[in-house]
Amino acid sequence: MCGIVGYLGRQEAGPILLNNLRGLEYRGYDSAGVAVLDSGRIDVVRRLGKLAILEEALEKECPVGTVGIGHTRWATHGAPSERNAHPHLDCKEQIAVVHNGIIENYHPLKEELIRRGHTFNSDTDTEVLAHLIEMYYTDDLEEAVRTALTRIEGSYALAVVCPEHPDLIVAARKDSPLIVGLGKDEYFLASDIPAVLAHTKDVLVVEDNEMVLVTPTGVVLKGLDGTVIEREPIKVTWDAGAAEKSGYDDFMLKEIFEQPTAIRETMRGRVDNGKIILDELRMTEADIKRIDKVFIVACGTSYHAGMVAKYAIESWVRVPVEIDIASEFRYRNPILDDKTLMIAVSQSGETADTLAGMRYAREQGAKTMAITNVVGSTISREADGVLYTHAGPEIGVAATKTLIAQMIALYLISLYLSTIRRSLSVEDEAEIVDELFRMDEIVQGLLDDTRQIALMREYADKHAGKSDFLFIGRSVGYPVALEGALKLKEISYIHAEGYAAGELKHGPIALVEESVPIVAVATEGHVYDKVISNIMEVKARDANVLAIASADDSQIAKHADEVIYVPRTSEILSAVPAVVPLQLISYYIAKKRGCNVDQPRNLAKSVTVE
Ligand code: M6R
Repeated sequence: MCGIVGYLGRQEAGPILLNNLRGLEYRGYDSAGVAVLDSGRIDVVRRLGKLAILEEALEKECPVGTVGIGHTRWATHGAPSERNAHPHLDCKEQIAVVHNGIIENYHPLKEELIRRGHTFNSDTDTEVLAHLIEMYYTDDLEEAVRTALTRIEGSYALAVVCPEHPDLIVAARKDSPLIVGLGKDEYFLASDIPAVLAHTKDVLVVEDNEMVLVTPTGVVLKGLDGTVIEREPIKVTWDAGAAEKSGYDDFMLKEIFEQPTAIRETMRGRVDNGKIILDELRMTEADIKRIDKVFIVACGTSYHAGMVAKYAIESWVRVPVEIDIASEFRYRNPILDDKTLMIAVSQSGETADTLAGMRYAREQGAKTMAITNVVGSTISREADGVLYTHAGPEIGVAATKTLIAQMIALYLISLYLSTIRRSLSVEDEAEIVDELFRMDEIVQGLLDDTRQIALMREYADKHAGKSDFLFIGRSVGYPVALEGALKLKEISYIHAEGYAAGELKHGPIALVEESVPIVAVATEGHVYDKVISNIMEVKARDANVLAIASADDSQIAKHADEVIYVPRTSEILSAVPAVVPLQLISYYIAKKRGCNVDQPRNLAKSVTVE
């Protein structure tokens, strides 16, 4: 949902802004721009399209100056175009603003500003900020921004520069992420940590309703009332290489192959002598014993990880679990109380609906637990307890390694709850922990299996021209099927649906015909025979079926046209190996169709608006 950057230091700002925007391009790529302070004026370069187009423009003529701001856009108000690209300027071209978020009351503000004689050059909500700041500006930029913010309803992470203050960037945040990378005599504003990793690992996290003043002497954090706030920076453990392709064609492929590491890192330090240690959840044994209901709230791929956890928690902990899409949960008046545990799952930790759902749960007295990949993210800071997935930064818009890491984290939580509530036998628990411990090797084995990978590529080549796909599964194979369909549609633009295999007869089977490939998740488990029956039903209607099956399944080839074998695991953990071929098949299909897998159209990695 848009990325903003800022630079103040001794180097030329233009190339640094551009480079740092690259680390945020996953947040939006409709258009991009930079503004650099240059001897008493603001030099702005904006372009429609991906960052590469802005880069070409900057190669020809890069603004000169050591202070600047930049933006990569995911359009909300106003179509993608050069005039709607940020930075936006006031009438006198003395104030430049970049903004991530939505100014909800921009319409009345715009009318007021037009009545007062301001001229608008874009259809964006952001431009009102530039004019509002202009209206309140006398000679104090900080004060003008502060006053303008009192008029704003909505969400923002914004950065403002003005040539009358050549050594100052004013930034602020409410409900959209903002960090400052602290270098040596130089400072890097950004929406997210990967953008600054090449420069520094010392990061100051800006919180809601705070302003930041960046000057050559340092960074000052203030409340909206002007009170100075002291906060220690955090040390980021991700390395800069994690945000590079390292020889892979795409981030998505690199991230799929990083999944064994993501599993290992997410497990690290959390199991000791077969016992799960999750002190970070900050729940006492008494807290855990009194839970009588679990809610899991998430969006997109994170929702699918949550669905897998429902099977794990209900089987292992024997507590009822409700799983909800966050945008539904927050508006449906759900019933929670102080015996409810609410688990918010979000890779970015910034998804607006998931955050709102978690805040609602807290208001109802529920204990909240966050699973996120981003240290210092809003969801991590507001939850009662947080379990970080240590997948490293995920740059591809399509979630892959973070899904796997979320599933691992959720399995760990489920086992932790079951240990304390003694809901699993010691032997069963030990067996699951042991298998979980081997999960990195299991996935590595799959990724190293060149024969299976070749089959996935062949399948992709054969079916890349199809216009519809159906994915079916039962038990944990159902969320895996949903995830397979989501991956395929988001990166290849092929229409795909995921269904609980038992639901086929209740409608979707009408879609089955020769031209619609069916992908059936048919790994070993107590519903295996039922899935086979569903495969036979679609085969009887001329469908082509690819089965994702457990290694050594000697029956499946009799029923399915094609089979991809994955390592055999226990049923609930099978979601992990089963989802990997679906990620790879989607990837290969999308590549065959010439799609940009890392930056699919219309999408953004971090959805910080409703
Ligand atoms: O950051 P989050 O995990 O909260 O994001 C949730 C979804 O926006 C995300 O999973 C989305 O569906 C991905 N594009 C899936 O690949």
